[in-house]
Amino acid sequence: MSATGRVVLVTGAARGIGRCIAQAFAGKGHVAVVTDLDAAGARSTAAALGGAAHAYGMDVRDAAQVADVVARVVHEHGAIDVLVNNAGRMTQGGFAATSHADFGAMLDVNVVGIFNCVQAISPAMMARRRGAIVNIASVSSVRGGGAVGNVWYGATKAAVVAMTSGLARELGPHGVRVNAISPGVVETGMVSEFMTPAVRDRVLTRFPLGRLATVDDVARTALFLASDDAAFVTGQTVAVDGGFLTN
Ligand SMILES: NC(=O)c1ccc[n+]([C@@H]2O[C@H](COP(=O)([O-])OP(=O)(O)OC[C@H]3O[C@@H](n4cnc5c(N)ncnc54)[C@H](O)[C@@H]3O)[C@@H](O)[C@H]2O)c1
Repeated sequence: MSATGRVVLVTGAARGIGRCIAQAFAGKGHVAVVTDLDAAGARSTAAALGGAAHAYGMDVRDAAQVADVVARVVHEHGAIDVLVNNAGRMTQGGFAATSHADFGAMLDVNVVGIFNCVQAISPAMMARRRGAIVNIASVSSVRGGGAVGNVWYGATKAAVVAMTSGLARELGPHGVRVNAISPGVVETGMVSEFMTPAVRDRVLTRFPLGRLATVDDVARTALFLASDDAAFVTGQTVAVDGGFLTN
């Protein structure tokens, strides 16, 4: 990726990690395409990021809507150079705490959502022989939950890791790199409702670096993986977890 001017589409970018990733790319002179199910939130995020950011309402579960937004972005900005598959849902608690409907909803966003975005965006990347995809997985992918997300969430994130490796193998010969980031616990809206002081204290004991992850930790890694500094890095899942997975 050149130093500036790339078009970077981030899903689920109205808030949390996605918002910070969009901000990081905009701050480096790239065009940040802020997409989210929450269209109003995407608009306010893009407005806050300034002229280099543009908002689109986009539900990653809806293949037709994804294709429509991608066509509009390409028409308005020329191409999509970087795709960050960040949109996600999580359930927590013991295995019985997740209903069939909740598991389906997680699969739809965390797995089918990436399918829809990759299918819509990667053909043009391959044709141009240029592109980078960064998927947001989770440390929960390794042992099936165990951080704050549960086993079913971990299973959807393990699928993200598998997609990252398989897509890297297929897209690599066409000049497109695919990597993932597995963040440790980040205090965003996704976890805030059950992050009591007791839960925070329990989780913190498993972070050798002595703190939880920040949205900036994740965004800096996304910038690296999308950049030419990572030109020979593909198919990898980078844990940004302060050593959580060593425990
Ligand atoms: N917060 C954590 O501790 C943590 C840890 C590891 C991985 N992750 C992953 O990081 C990613 C971002 O999480 P976050 O903590 O910022 O969450 P968040 O809940 O703060 O933000 C998620 C965003 O995704 C959007 N979204 C949800 N469903 C969508 C859909 N169908 N289409 C488009 N957008 C949709 C939401 O509107 C929201 O803006 C997720 O994939 C999550 O699983 C989070």
